[in-house]
Amino acid sequence: MSIFIDTLHGKETHRPPVWFMRQAGRISPTYRKLREQYSFQQLMSDPKLAAQVTLMPVSDFGVDAAILFSDILVIPQALGLEVDFPDSGPVFKNALCRQSTTQKLTYNPSKLNYIYDAIDEINRTKQDGFPLIGFCGGPLTTYLFMAQGTSSNHLFSEAIKYYYNNRSSLQRLLAQITDASIDYALKQCEHGISAFQVFETYGGLLPSEVYLKDVYPHVKRLIAAVKATGTPVIYFPKGLGTGLAHINDCGADFVSIDWQVSLPDARKMLDKHIGLQGNFDPRLLSVNDIQILDDALLPIIEYWKKNRNFIFNLGHGLTPDNTFDNVKHVIERIKTLNC
Ligand code: CP3
Repeated sequence: MSIFIDTLHGKETHRPPVWFMRQAGRISPTYRKLREQYSFQQLMSDPKLAAQVTLMPVSDFGVDAAILFSDILVIPQALGLEVDFPDSGPVFKNALCRQSTTQKLTYNPSKLNYIYDAIDEINRTKQDGFPLIGFCGGPLTTYLFMAQGTSSNHLFSEAIKYYYNNRSSLQRLLAQITDASIDYALKQCEHGISAFQVFETYGGLLPSEVYLKDVYPHVKRLIAAVKATGTPVIYFPKGLGTGLAHINDCGADFVSIDWQVSLPDARKMLDKHIGLQGNFDPRLLSVNDIQILDDALLPIIEYWKKNRNFIFNLGHGLTPDNTFDNVKHVIERIKTLNC
């Protein structure tokens, strides 16, 4: 059986499971080699290559779960927006903020078929029973990219201004993004993913009251649809801060915590039935002394000793400047815990 799936189902295990957001590609030399030959879009569109990159961190680092090699921006693509992935990050051709008359978006589900082919290929290739995490973006994060068109301004100021100017009419768009995400998530479940994560990476860019009123009901609908298939769900509302106290009815099995909230503080805000995932600061994975890493791991290990419904992960994703050796060291340290 899998220690990751056992933990998601609330079983006590002798150590926490470990996987990292953005573990596929990024810091792997084998991935860099592949990227010299293929663009990011080509890699994720070819089921064999996507399967190879998905499983790379499993053999490179020994993580306890694989995450599908794809992107949250495939939903805007399926809604009819054109997205390119140059090295500087994703770029939309027709971001909503820059359109003079708002383009009518229509969801074309067949545009996502290549991703289900990749899931089938991963399931054929991986070891039987090894968990595969499927995912989509949260409705706000997906909207912010669609409106702003790039993430070069991490505050998404234009997209937020556009949001406030069109708050009630944008409810329809959030609902449309959610409907497409539900269809996409349910098909991932049909094709045999073992768990599902909702990446609301930019959830903290709206005041938490606004997020909870306008966006959170859509998130709950998405999580409920996935949960109805029996698939465990992890919700990552990055930057929600004290808003965490108001998501106890989210329906997810686990909530992923960023590095701005300590695990004990998050534990106080979230009910016991919700497990915590997180929240090691990924910037520590760029330090040049292993001792710094070991010291930084201590509070998380102490937390785990008292709170077993826990998955070790980062407060956000790996970045290209994180070193292979540091990542390997942290994973090995977590995997030797035993009590
Ligand atoms: O472990 C994994 O990384 C699995 C696959 C995955 C990717 N993107 C592949 C990718 C996942 C889960 C995502 C999610 C995603 N994509 C999010 C939410 C989570 C997060 O990390 O914030 C967001 C906001 C995006 C949008 C996006 N895609 C950005 C901002 C970028 C550029 C910066 C970067 O590297 O993340 C991408 C490109 C992207 N998505 C790459 C990969 C491997 C880099 C492509 C490359 O140049 O090789």
